[in-house]
Amino acid sequence: MKERLIELISAADIAKRVDELAREISADYAGREVITVGILKGAWLFMADLVRRLTIPVMCDFIGISSYADQTESSGVVRITSDLGMNIKNKHVLVVEDIIDTGVTTRYLLENLKTRLPASISICVLLDKVERRVVKVPLDYIGFVIPSCFVVGYGLDYAQKYRNLPYVAELQLSESEED
Ligand code: IMP
Ligand code: MG
Repeated sequence: MKERLIELISAADIAKRVDELAREISADYAGREVITVGILKGAWLFMADLVRRLTIPVMCDFIGISSYADQTESSGVVRITSDLGMNIKNKHVLVVEDIIDTGVTTRYLLENLKTRLPASISICVLLDKVERRVVKVPLDYIGFVIPSCFVVGYGLDYAQKYRNLPYVAELQLSESEED
């Protein structure tokens, strides 16, 4: 398979949008302390950039969730691969996600986190493939709405590759080597 990358969102555009999101979140959470919960591994870069721009008190934690097994199609199977380190009871939780596709992963995560009785839960996602949504998920902060193509970069992977790209690219796979 030949893999071709086509830039979709530049590093500069990501930085500008992350800045805007951070300002919005800081204003909404003024006077409150927030725990940002990053979804591993995809949200790692996004969360690192986002929290550095927040002006409110922040605590950071991560949760590992697996829904794709080295494929570009969702398996529908969701499992927690690494749990939160912190107790979120009575805390304001901001879930930080790389991308929402069908919504299955996020819905599962939301239900799971709610059982731990946080004071509030909001979701901040960098990329929203809104056309692909299968289950409803309430999104509070959205970086970019993108078409339903497979994307990599800025934390997002294809078979664990391309997470380190500073931009978001569409990944095109083709059989032919000449393409
Ligand atoms: P969902 O459960 O279908 O919403 O899928 C969400 C998860 O699938 C994300 O957290 C990603 O890990 C992965 N995913 C969905 N679309 C893409 C993509 O275009 N590129 C890379 N990973 C993706
Ligand atoms: Mg992934």
